[in-house]
Amino acid sequence: MSGLSLDDAVQRLMQLRKQLHAHAKAYYVDDAPTLPDADYDALYRELLTLEATFPSLVTADSPSQRVGAAADTAFSSVKHDVPMLSLDNVFSETEFQDFDRRLRERLNWEVAVGLPYICEPKFDGLAVTLHYRHGQLVKAATRGDGSSGEDITANVLTIATVPKRLAGENLPEHLEIRGEVLMPRAGFLALNERQIAAGEKVFANPRNAAAGALRQLDARITAQRPLAFYAYALAAISGAAWPSTHSQTLRWFKSLGFVIADEVCLGHGPMFVQQAWQTLLDSRDSLPFDIDGMVVKVDDRRLQQDLGFVARAPRWAVAYKFPAQEVSTTLEAIDFQVGRTGALTPVARLRPVNVAGVVVSNATLHNMDEVQRLDLRPGDTVVIYRAGDVIPKVMRRLDDEAHAHRLIVSLPSACPVCGSAVMRPEGEVIARCSAGQFCPAQRKEAIRHFASRRAMDIDGLGEKWIDLMVDAGLVNSTADIYRLTQEQLLSLPRMAEKSANNLLAAIETSRETTLARFIYALGIANVGEATAEAFARQFGRWQAFQEADEVALLATPDVGPVVAQSVMSYLREPHNVSVINALMAAGVRWPDQAAAQDLPQPLLGQTWVLTGTLSTLSRDEAGARLKALGAKVSGSVSAKTHVLVAGESAGSKLTKAQELGVTVWDEEQLLSMLREHE
Ligand code: IVH
Repeated sequence: MSGLSLDDAVQRLMQLRKQLHAHAKAYYVDDAPTLPDADYDALYRELLTLEATFPSLVTADSPSQRVGAAADTAFSSVKHDVPMLSLDNVFSETEFQDFDRRLRERLNWEVAVGLPYICEPKFDGLAVTLHYRHGQLVKAATRGDGSSGEDITANVLTIATVPKRLAGENLPEHLEIRGEVLMPRAGFLALNERQIAAGEKVFANPRNAAAGALRQLDARITAQRPLAFYAYALAAISGAAWPSTHSQTLRWFKSLGFVIADEVCLGHGPMFVQQAWQTLLDSRDSLPFDIDGMVVKVDDRRLQQDLGFVARAPRWAVAYKFPAQEVSTTLEAIDFQVGRTGALTPVARLRPVNVAGVVVSNATLHNMDEVQRLDLRPGDTVVIYRAGDVIPKVMRRLDDEAHAHRLIVSLPSACPVCGSAVMRPEGEVIARCSAGQFCPAQRKEAIRHFASRRAMDIDGLGEKWIDLMVDAGLVNSTADIYRLTQEQLLSLPRMAEKSANNLLAAIETSRETTLARFIYALGIANVGEATAEAFARQFGRWQAFQEADEVALLATPDVGPVVAQSVMSYLREPHNVSVINALMAAGVRWPDQAAAQDLPQPLLGQTWVLTGTLSTLSRDEAGARLKALGAKVSGSVSAKTHVLVAGESAGSKLTKAQELGVTVWDEEQLLSMLREHE
């Protein structure tokens, strides 16, 4: 940096100041940060280093000389008699040791025991100052630019943890107490849920939500936002003496009725501070609110006074920051991964970046809707968030001029793993590869589903064996299961002769199945057990199902366009057809049934409801027989219900049917109708 010429330094300083001013306004005045805090800190440090190298270039309006940004005009302005300062930052143990050394030098501290330090969470909220006259809250203001802020008394009065009247007797004539207004995480999540439900804007993080709540012009809205206040500094006192240490001040605050963070601790020297920092960092994710570091203050007021202030911060305190949870990096590409069920997930490939101590180079983007919502294009700068063990998330994109010229990524039409068609039915969020088990990404899952109890029910063929068989190349498709030999099975690690024979027997038994199980076993997207049964009932024979066009598929009870499309694209995929043919050739079989579509459907278009206990058949059987006659069987009564069949001890459904004037039958009437159509 010091290698810069004076001219270059002037240029760079002008650039930095302009950028920092703009970002500070976005952060403090508009509550809409344009940059992650870590990036802002980096720019700010560059400015400080340059100014230290070229002291003659420091100007009065440099961000290094001011705090925050000028207040907005919507609230009336409050001048701070005691300026609301900021804190210098340190980012590592050595930087803190340097800070500690500077203080000891300044104080000529020669005592063996280190300086007395009090450590507190660095709350990630908004600094607010509160004025009390004889114990009564009279004014509350924001920090603004440090010398004057905004009068937010009406809003602050709505915060439950701000005492309106201080506890105790003989309260000082004037007290000015500072602290942080924040939104606890739980309240933040609940607020965002309410915002979504009401179709309102969602807040990016608790700090923005707290800022938005505080600057409401209507305090009734602030009152509905879950804000909290933590006191951390005494700014002025008249009519009483200052406590002699900061720890005493905090205890006194507590007795006055303020909330103080539980995580405050007191000790000596940098080793103690380092331990306190590590402990606080370890508990970061389990705290009820967001913090972005630890504030370390010299506890003793006399020492504080000796140390004094620099332009924008006290010398006796420092913010020892945590690794940033939000950092920006370049989005290099958007790739697509194929999951076990064929779902295509867009993945952000990132220029590797350290987020909260871990190098992140990929982040899931969930689905194409998310890519579009964030309007992400390769080359963009994106903000990544990572907390605790949570997987890294792309939060947002930072706007830049080149964005509009970057290429938009669209959903691939071919699966990146096997090249088969990708389908995304209208209205569906998830796109899938249509190849099923032909696609290596889906093979194991498809085979596991095929063999599962409610599908082909191959006893003993679980995930473990399937993994081994696929990895050994013994099974590449479900049809291969029926070609397995005892010798092949015995070649698998830990497969004993008895298990091999049992497995072969189970495979043999499974050849004899039902059409419904077979359709379900194929694992067609959106075709669960009930839909497979409906198809089996509707078409009776495989051939009829396979040849069905969309209209025919849609005639199946409860089948809509998404399912119909899904079936058609599955059956259109040649690999799927060849596996099905191979399965049949391997002897997988089932009895043909009479097809509902060929039978008279006297109840077509009608909705029936069954309630209470029937004595001669179960509700499931009764439902199946009604469905076979074309009826739709529903679980609830409405004006559209044709008949309610009420068995023994029918309850609210019967009452409702009577109210709505719906026809009510008893079991006898149902049975005679069913007999008529046998
Ligand atoms: S003391 C003169 N204590 O950090 C010292 N500040 O970057 C004034 N902050 O404006 C600050 N937690 O908004 C102090 N425990 C804490 C804090 C804290 C968060 C904020 C505060 C301040 C900013 C400085």
